[in-house]
Amino acid sequence: MKTTASRPRIAASARKIAPTHNGHGNGESSARRAPLKISPHLGAWLKKPKHNLIGGKWTPAASGKLFDVFNPADAWVIARVPDSDKEDINRAVAAARRAFETGPWRRMTPSERGKLVWRIGDLILQNADELAELESLDNGKPRAVARVADVPLAADLFHYMAGWATKIEGNTIPISVPYAPGAQFHAFTLRDPVGVVGQIIPWNFPLLMAAWKLGPALACGNCVVLKPAEQTPLSALRLGEILLEAGIPEGVVNIVTGFGETAGAALAVHEDVDKVAFTGSTEVGKIIVRAAAGNLKKVSLELGGKSPNIIFKDVGDLNAAINGAANAIFFNHGQCCCAGSRLMVERDIFEDVVAGVAEQAKKIKLGPGLDAATEMGPLVSEEQLSRVTNYMNQGKQSGACYVTGGDRSGERGYFVQPTVIKDVKPDMSIVREEIFGPVVVAEPFTKPEELLPRANQTPYGLAAGVWTGDIAKAHRVAAALKAGTVWINCYNVFDSALPFGGYKQSGWGREMGHEVLEQYTQTKAVVVGL
Ligand code: NAI
Ligand code: MG
Repeated sequence: MKTTASRPRIAASARKIAPTHNGHGNGESSARRAPLKISPHLGAWLKKPKHNLIGGKWTPAASGKLFDVFNPADAWVIARVPDSDKEDINRAVAAARRAFETGPWRRMTPSERGKLVWRIGDLILQNADELAELESLDNGKPRAVARVADVPLAADLFHYMAGWATKIEGNTIPISVPYAPGAQFHAFTLRDPVGVVGQIIPWNFPLLMAAWKLGPALACGNCVVLKPAEQTPLSALRLGEILLEAGIPEGVVNIVTGFGETAGAALAVHEDVDKVAFTGSTEVGKIIVRAAAGNLKKVSLELGGKSPNIIFKDVGDLNAAINGAANAIFFNHGQCCCAGSRLMVERDIFEDVVAGVAEQAKKIKLGPGLDAATEMGPLVSEEQLSRVTNYMNQGKQSGACYVTGGDRSGERGYFVQPTVIKDVKPDMSIVREEIFGPVVVAEPFTKPEELLPRANQTPYGLAAGVWTGDIAKAHRVAAALKAGTVWINCYNVFDSALPFGGYKQSGWGREMGHEVLEQYTQTKAVVVGL
C-alpha cells in the first residue's frame, strides 16, 4: 500500500507559483527561467481559487487544505487544489445520492438526458484550444497532440454516448414456468442505472479518461463522484465548469481533488457508493477490489499492460511497421497502458527494425509541452521520473544492451530519453514489468511456436500489435493473443465505438462502445401474471 511519502517531492526552492503570461504570478517571479507563455485566458483561469464541485457548488476542502499542482516541464507550481479527504468524499457521495434519489436527473426523459450529454461534447469542442493548453501544461504532453487527440476524442466520446441515452433497452422474454401449467405471464427486462458511481482516474490522459468514465455513466442515468489524479486535476475542474454550463443538474457529477491514499481510498470503500470504476496501476486495482468488498459495490478496472508488438519478416511495408513500433512506445511518452513496450521481431529483420526504431527515438525533439517544436514532453511527475529511471538502471545492471537512450534528459523537469533496449532475458524486470515511460525492449523470435507463448507470457493482457502481409497469419495470431485489443498493421487506433479493456490482470470490464453500458446499468426482470 502506498503512503503519502509517494507524493511529489520537490525542493522547497521550486515551490513557487509560476509566473503567468504577463510575468506576474501569485507568488514570486523567478529570474531563472523565462515566463511561461500561457494565453491570457488560461493565465486568468489558473489564478482563480480552485474548489471541489459538490452538489453543483464550488466548495473548498472541509479541512481547508490545498496541495500543489506542478508543471512537469520545469517543476514549477501552476495551481493549488483542494487536498480532500474522507469528509469531502462523504459530502460528495451524499450530494450524488440526493441527486440520484430525488433530483430531476431520474425524471428527465432519455432524450433530454442525451441532449445534455451531447452538449458537453459541443462545449469541449468550443473550448478545445484552452483545454489543450491546460492539458499540456498540467500533464506535459505536447499541446498539438492534446489538441488533435485528447480533446476531440473526449468530445467525441460524449457525442457517441449521447446517442445511447435513448437506446438502452430491455427485452421481452417468452417464459414457460414448468411448475405452473396453463398460467400465462408477460415477462420483460429493464436496464436501470447502477446508482452512485465513484470514478478514479489516472494522469496520462486526464481529460479523456474523465470523458471515458463520465460519458457512459451519464448516458445511463447514474450520478458520479469523480476523483482525478493528484498529478493532473486541472482539466477535470475545468470540465466541471463545462458540465454546469451544459446544464447537468446539481449533484449529478461531483468532482473531488485529492490523493489516492486519502480521497481515492475513501471513495472506493464508501458504503453508499454502488459502483467504483478505476483506471490506474494493477497494484491499486487490487486495493480497490478489496475496498469494494465491504458493501460489494460493482467494480470495473482498466489496469496496466506490457503489450507485445510483433513484426514478421513478411510485413508488407517495413517502414510503416518501424514507424508504427516507434509510435506504439513513444506516443504520450510511453505513458499509455496499451504501449507496445515489448517489440518482438522475426530474427531476419530484427537488427533493421531495432535500428529503425532507435533512429526514430534519436530524432524525437524533447521539450515543454507548450513549446510548438516539442515532439515529446516530460514525464508527468518526479515520482514517475524516478520510477522510469530506476527501470532503466535495473536494465543496465542486468546486462541488457541500450541501443539508444537510457537516462534522464536535462536537470530540470521530468524528461527522459526515448530508449530502445535489446539483448534482454525473460526474467529481467524491464521485460516483465510495466515501465510506463518511453522505453521499449526488443526481442527476436524465429518460430511461431515459440513466439505466441512468449507474447502471452505476462500477467497482463491489454493490447497487442501484429505486422504481416499474410492476412491468414495475421488472423491466426490475433486469435491466439490474450489481449483485449489487437491491432493488425496499425497501432494505437482508438474509437468511441470500440470497446477497450483487458484480459487477465489488465482489468475487469470494457470501456467505450456499447459494451460499456453493461458497466453502468443493471438488469431488472419484471414478470406480470396475466
Ligand atoms: P495509481 O494507480 O496509484 O493512480 C491512479 C489513480 O488511483 C489516481 O487517481 C490515484 O490518486 C488513485 N489511487 C492511488 N492509490 C489509491 C488508493 N489506495 N485507493 C484509491 N485510489 C487510489 O498510479 P500511479 O501511482 O500514478 O502510477 C503508478 C503506475 O501505475 C505507473 O507507473 C503505471 O505503470 C501504472 N498506471 C497505469 C495507468 C493506466 O492507464 N492503466 C495510468 C496510470 C498509471
Ligand atoms: Mg500510485
